[in-house]
Amino acid sequence: MRIALAPMAGYTDSVFRRICGEMGADYAVSEMISAAALVMKDRKTAELAKIGEGEPPVVLQLFGHDPALMAEAAELLLSGDYPGCSYASPPAGIDINMGCPVRKIVSNGDGSALMLDPPLAARITAAVKEVCARRGVPLSVKFRMGWDSLTAPDFARAVVSAGADRITLHCRTREQMYMPSADPSAAGAVFAAVKEEILGGKTAFCGNGDIDCPEAAERYFINGCTEAAVGRAALGNPWLFRQLKDPAGFVPPGKDEIRALVIRMVEDVVREKGEIRGVRESRSRAAYFIRGLRGSAALRDSLNHADTLSDFVRLLDGSEALRD
Ligand SMILES: Cc1cc2nc3c(=O)[nH]c(=O)nc-3n(C[C@H](O)[C@H](O)[C@H](O)COP(=O)(O)O)c2cc1C
Repeated sequence: MRIALAPMAGYTDSVFRRICGEMGADYAVSEMISAAALVMKDRKTAELAKIGEGEPPVVLQLFGHDPALMAEAAELLLSGDYPGCSYASPPAGIDINMGCPVRKIVSNGDGSALMLDPPLAARITAAVKEVCARRGVPLSVKFRMGWDSLTAPDFARAVVSAGADRITLHCRTREQMYMPSADPSAAGAVFAAVKEEILGGKTAFCGNGDIDCPEAAERYFINGCTEAAVGRAALGNPWLFRQLKDPAGFVPPGKDEIRALVIRMVEDVVREKGEIRGVRESRSRAAYFIRGLRGSAALRDSLNHADTLSDFVRLLDGSEALRD
């Protein structure tokens, strides 16, 4: 079964995607990219689409609500014809964000607000699909169970009919945001709605929500998913991809391995983004890796006060929390 790294703004950049690819992720989805900002040639937005050396296949995710603008942005991403474009390998596909629950996004009609307007969602899908088909890459659409109730089966039918080659279902409603637990049985209802397309190989079906062990992934596969996407559980534990790929042979990492990986990650982020921004971003990223370890609260606190790469690495290197 294919296992993906789910898109996470602020986290699934080139550095983290490479790490997850090395651990076995079959593909990874970028942070969400504003179609409007990309079309305006915004440099910061272009950075989000960077694909570096050594990454697994990378699907670039767009958000927006205007079909023509979304198609134009997809064309820019796939042609690479925008300022600041940097691809070590070409994008493996385009994903459309129809699941983001954040108020700033939905109040603009983007993200999960599109679940309230399936005909518009279908028009966006069809417009972007035309570009993807011409450029020879698949189109995926990521959405939730619904706004405040289960409407995903009809919604899935609409976007699949409009040409989605993959659907990714986050098994929570918009109202639930990121709590409570995801409900993989919703995947069963979506599977029933687009069974022919999934079984016929026309559409891949990716399940998402609370996958943190092989048993959790299995709950999606028994509900008809052909793929699974891991979100938050990967943030401090990219080894999870190894475990999901080979549960029986999996050996958990020791603290030396964890420490070495976090240090490498921080160094790579600083190399990519510069010291000030790299260190700042690394604080929350490193915190995921040390969560639950003895002494992690003190280490997290010190990391929050480290301003340079050398201080950051010294703290990680010297911490009891990361010693066997
Ligand atoms: C910090 C954070 C950022 C996220 N950013 C995005 C995003 O840019 N695009 C998107 O489609 N989903 C985004 N998501 C949602 C995740 O892709 C995923 O659907 C959600 O976290 C549920 O999966 P999980 O329970 O495995 O974390 C984000 C989630 C988190 C926690």
